[in-house]
Amino acid sequence: MTARPAPPALRESIRTLGASRIREVANSALGRPGVLPFWFGEPDAVTPAFIRDAAIAAMLAGDTFYHHNLGILPLREGLAAYLSAPHRAIDVSRIAVTSAGVNALMIAAQALFGPGDRVVAIVPLWPNVTEIPRILGAEVVRVALDFEAASGLWELDLERLLAALTPGTRAVIINSPNNPTGWTMSRKDQVTLLAHCREHGIWIVSDEAYERLVFDGSTQAPSFLDIAEPDDALMVANTFSKAWQMTGWRLGWLVAPASSAPELGKLIEYNTSCAPGFIQQAALVALRDGEDSVRRFVAELALRRDALVAALAPLDGVEMGAPPGAMYLFFRLAGQRDSLDLAKRLVSEAGLGLAPGSAFGPEGEGFLRWCFARPVEQLRDGAERLRRFLATS
Ligand SMILES: Cc1ncc(COP(=O)(O)O)c(C=O)c1O
Repeated sequence: MTARPAPPALRESIRTLGASRIREVANSALGRPGVLPFWFGEPDAVTPAFIRDAAIAAMLAGDTFYHHNLGILPLREGLAAYLSAPHRAIDVSRIAVTSAGVNALMIAAQALFGPGDRVVAIVPLWPNVTEIPRILGAEVVRVALDFEAASGLWELDLERLLAALTPGTRAVIINSPNNPTGWTMSRKDQVTLLAHCREHGIWIVSDEAYERLVFDGSTQAPSFLDIAEPDDALMVANTFSKAWQMTGWRLGWLVAPASSAPELGKLIEYNTSCAPGFIQQAALVALRDGEDSVRRFVAELALRRDALVAALAPLDGVEMGAPPGAMYLFFRLAGQRDSLDLAKRLVSEAGLGLAPGSAFGPEGEGFLRWCFARPVEQLRDGAERLRRFLATS
């Protein structure tokens, strides 16, 4: 039998995508019982029962059909009302319901980016946000946040960002509050950036997945929806995953200029056609009845963040500050430079599962990400495991 030739190669931009280093660490724990899993960005609690009940009721009522590309109208209206309360009025014509936040990012990217487009991203960053434009052949230019050793917090050098946003740049991508650092963009910086992007015709893609997860007592982080005009070149991606603890449901949304929404509907048609109806029904109930649950979740997260910071503070060589938003502590251990190797050693020698900072780009090298959306006792147990590891290594 003659050997058959290998199939023609996949596209170059796909072959050069990186594999997830978080998965690599989690996979290294397979077959090792008792590892504390702080690596993934997922709340530990099951979705609140009233949301699950709404999905079951919609399913039992027979909601098993295709729906409008942009989402069922009651959900789009619900989102318009939900967003208009804290932000400027958002018309329903600007909203597209998507199959998760990551799909919202993909739809926005497909609408905006083609081969060779220059896209600037503030990093370190959840890799999906930078890899999606690369799938489409865009060139991603990284502008790094600075780690301030004195405060343990991450800061943006706005001048450096503006200098990178040269005329001809297609878009800037911002994730605030940021995964992994918790950095949260100030209103002042948003205003300056919006003016710059208007002047140079640059799109802003704002990933606001952690908008509700802020710990300064306010109910949301500054959003570009507070300051932008309806026809500004702005796409805001968001998700039900985090604030409503619905990661497995895969439901999100995009806010775009009204003139773009019908175009987004075409893209949704060719990607998923629509989000599942019974899940959209449940999301409508989450929006309508979920405010207390969101607030309780954020209050609990704040306690968990404080408990983790308090437990790590006495350990020698831990460099960190309490993050203002999201649900991660992105910290450094003095003298440690290879975060992937360190994260694997923490799994095998201490039973502690953290994400390596290099998973979020070279700017994150040397750091570890600890998701604190887990019970306080488990966080303290993890801190104790780290203490023992440091004492013996
Ligand atoms: C920064 C950021 N954006 C978007 C998402 C998308 O979440 P999902 O696809 O679950 O809606 C995540 C999830 O971890 C995230 O960290």
